[in-house]
Amino acid sequence: MSAPRKLFVKTYGCQMNVYDSERMTEVLGSEGYVATDRPEDADMILLNTCHIREKAAEKVYSELGRLRALKDINPDLKIGVAGCVAQAEGEEIMRRSSLVDLVVGPQSYHRLPAMERAVRSGAKALDTDFPEDDKFDTLKARTKMKRAPSAFLTVQEGCDKFCAFCVVPYTRGSEVSRPADRVLREAEELVDAGVAEITLLGQNVNAYHGHDKGLAGLIWDLAKIDGLKRIRFTTSHPNDMDDALIAAHGECEKLMPYLHLPVQSGSDRILKAMNRKHTAESYLNLVDRIRAARPDLMLSSDFIVGFPGETEEDFEATMDLIRTVEFGQAYSFKYSTRPGTPAAEKPQLPEDVMADRLARLQTLLTQQQHKVQEDMVGRTVGVLFEKPGRIAGQMIGKSDYLHAVYADAPNTVLGRVLPVRIIAAGPNSLGGVLVG
Ligand code: 5AD
Ligand code: SF4
Repeated sequence: MSAPRKLFVKTYGCQMNVYDSERMTEVLGSEGYVATDRPEDADMILLNTCHIREKAAEKVYSELGRLRALKDINPDLKIGVAGCVAQAEGEEIMRRSSLVDLVVGPQSYHRLPAMERAVRSGAKALDTDFPEDDKFDTLKARTKMKRAPSAFLTVQEGCDKFCAFCVVPYTRGSEVSRPADRVLREAEELVDAGVAEITLLGQNVNAYHGHDKGLAGLIWDLAKIDGLKRIRFTTSHPNDMDDALIAAHGECEKLMPYLHLPVQSGSDRILKAMNRKHTAESYLNLVDRIRAARPDLMLSSDFIVGFPGETEEDFEATMDLIRTVEFGQAYSFKYSTRPGTPAAEKPQLPEDVMADRLARLQTLLTQQQHKVQEDMVGRTVGVLFEKPGRIAGQMIGKSDYLHAVYADAPNTVLGRVLPVRIIAAGPNSLGGVLVG
């Protein structure tokens, strides 16, 4: 028998790409590939790319530049570009870089085996269709190998919201939900393989409609799986937080008290220009309702500063919203022009104005994050232990609120959720001791 071929996948961007990279690795596993984390050993390298902000294509070209040396050493090395840059600019990439053998868009991963065979025989392969056949239906059941305690599971893809700044509706297409029975089956397989926590993924996951009772219905069905201890979901649009989902946050014990709910801006004028279809006030009301259901819920968000037309007053409205909500965690970005989106036509703000606003916003968010972390000291929280720490005897896990937590513990804790009393707060993690 010949030695297995080796596959190196480099993943950029969001958690959906992390999930897709796993699935691509599994698909190519059936073609005789095993994963490697050393690109220099690989027979095939896949770059799973992200297109959400600027310089995405340039990043791909500079990575390809670095890979040239490997292809010089091993002329049989095959190089593929996957993900959203492949979807948006795949043909251009293939034309510009002779190194690229294969271009595959996010909806076509199930076609990788045939594409792989084509490139092995010396051809080039490109597929950026939005095929009728759902890739998840055609992808094989997940492999049975033992898994890490926490797993992602994509349940929904694409977006119909068309925020004026965002490429997702163009690169990932319109909203598609996987049927609940398939999701439940995959969840059961993951749990059988040792998974204790599942994070449901979708570009607009709370618009999920693969279950007759929406995402809340899916969560309640997942909660019936015995070995599954924790359920999370991301990313949500405020307008799709329905009553049932809010109630689930209060009533479903397995649904963790953490919610990533992007608001982008606190200025109604900018929210309108962004085509967000909600106001600052409606967002704040929503936060009140969710916190009424689950008072200790940790909120996280995304912010864009410097959207075209944003004045100092608009920016201050965002700062006010942040002061009102108190986020435990957040991601913030300078507005980045995406060709083909409506906002790209508008005059841009100067770079120094954006940089200054981003710095002020991040200072405030960091202060809030530290305060939330310091408030955890003295509390006892559930921690799912995921891996050994770098110091002997130390284990690392995630709290119910998604904080990284370090504690001295035997490695029998791995894969279990145990109570931990928090005794110290660092900038990016908490320290604790096992209780009982
Ligand atoms: N510029 C800056 N940030 C963006 N995001 C999406 N598109 C852009 C853009 N053109 C951010 C939003 C979104 C997150 C995933 O990325 O905040 O919620
Ligand atoms: Fe992009 Fe999210 Fe808006 Fe959809 S809801 S267009 S994914 S920012």
